[in-house]
Amino acid sequence: MSKNCVVILAGGEGTRMKSKKPKVMAEIIFKPMIDRVMESAMGAGIEDICVVTGYRAEVLEAHLAGRAQTVRQEQRLGTGHAVMQAMDFIKAHSGGNVLILAGDAPFMDSRTIREALEAHVNNRFVQTVISAKVDDPFGYGRIVRDADGNFTAIVEQASADVDTQKIREINSGAMWFDADTLCDLLGKIDNKNSKGEYYLTDTVHIALSMGLRVGAYAADNADAVLGANTRVQLHELNEILRKKTLEKLMLEGVSIPCTSSVIIDPDVKVGADTVILPGTIIKEGCEIGEDCVIGPNTVLYKTKVGDGVTLNAVQAEEAEVKDNANLGPFVHLRPNTVIGEHVHCGNFVEVKNSVIDHHTSVSHLTYVGDSDVGSGVNFGCGVVTVNFNGKTKNRCRIGDDAFIGCNTNLIAPVTIGDRAYTAAGSTITEDVPSDALSIARERQTNKEDWVKKTNPYREKKY
Ligand code: UD1
Ligand code: CA
Repeated sequence: MSKNCVVILAGGEGTRMKSKKPKVMAEIIFKPMIDRVMESAMGAGIEDICVVTGYRAEVLEAHLAGRAQTVRQEQRLGTGHAVMQAMDFIKAHSGGNVLILAGDAPFMDSRTIREALEAHVNNRFVQTVISAKVDDPFGYGRIVRDADGNFTAIVEQASADVDTQKIREINSGAMWFDADTLCDLLGKIDNKNSKGEYYLTDTVHIALSMGLRVGAYAADNADAVLGANTRVQLHELNEILRKKTLEKLMLEGVSIPCTSSVIIDPDVKVGADTVILPGTIIKEGCEIGEDCVIGPNTVLYKTKVGDGVTLNAVQAEEAEVKDNANLGPFVHLRPNTVIGEHVHCGNFVEVKNSVIDHHTSVSHLTYVGDSDVGSGVNFGCGVVTVNFNGKTKNRCRIGDDAFIGCNTNLIAPVTIGDRAYTAAGSTITEDVPSDALSIARERQTNKEDWVKKTNPYREKKY
């Protein structure tokens, strides 16, 4: 049997979003809806993905490059018409099963997709619609069943009579098809309805009228059907995922005393007894250890944080912070930075593409860029690694237990030996040997009675 595949419908404009981007690019917890839908399909073991694009197709094509095939639907003539555009892709999977997903339903999950496929295969259905019971079915296609509970049709909102409108079981928009049957059914749907669209949902009654086996699999995850047409609904979906994620973390032993304004990507792992404070945003690719205090006002992206770490008003991207480090307030870690155990970085410290070894202290107003810093080093206030000469970036090396005086400029490339000192205000252009003191500044001269002798004119203003 041929491999299973998925066609994701993403051609719609989403007019009410009032966006320059295709609707499926709208983000739920910092991730475009289309990416969440693709991840759910891949999580269910489906690797062959074809996305039907339409409105601002070039934006989606660039976003999906290398991750999925795309086909363009030049005119939006309905969900059935959208699937027709993927005909070649579907034919290439002859003998297998095709999943159709709506790109604007970001909570469709891998388990529902897998379980619906099991029902599809075990019941030898040619088509299995994934349905759900919702409190407010307005706007959705209703699942119509006969007196024996057999699935007979999907009726769209626009075509539903008063009784049909009362049905709360609705079409999620996701369905499994036998690939060959789908090709056959697509050739049979028309646009003879009030909207003049080719409805994919018409395949249900066509298949049934041909005597084929069609089923509806009711998902227990009612969120799987939710979509967003406006930015207000987008906010609601964000809130659903945000609250669900925070609740899961709290039940795993993470303290979030005030959940408002805390946003955490659902894939982020956080250790027990860690406290997350308001204003904290933890984006994808982060991992946080136990017994940390993260926040307030901390933003992390692709950053690994060890155990017992304090991050107070820290922004970090693509960085690592090891156990018991204490950073903040107002620290910025830029990509490729490793902060060692027990390191302290204080206010207004920026570290980029550098390794700082254990027990080093960088307490105030310092820039460490492209540097390898040893353990037990003390940075005075206002140290700058001068890593860029206008053309190339160069590295500074600072040995263990060195003492870098206040307002030292380290002109890279330069090496400071172990235990060496630099005098405050020095501009260091040459290597400093271990155990040396380097003074690189003008000697002070005091001109006695200079004011009396030159009598400089100064108007008194107070
Ligand atoms: C569709 C279903 C409805 C279901 C609902 C679930 C049909 C006819 N109706 O309605 O039964 O309850 O989803 O959310 O299928 N798209 C295209 N090209 C088009 C039209 C749509 O790519 O020409 C895409 C959209 O971008 C969207 C998806 O298909 O991602 C669903 O289309 P949409 O117009 O939102 O369908 P609904 O009216 O929500
Ligand atoms: Ca929709």
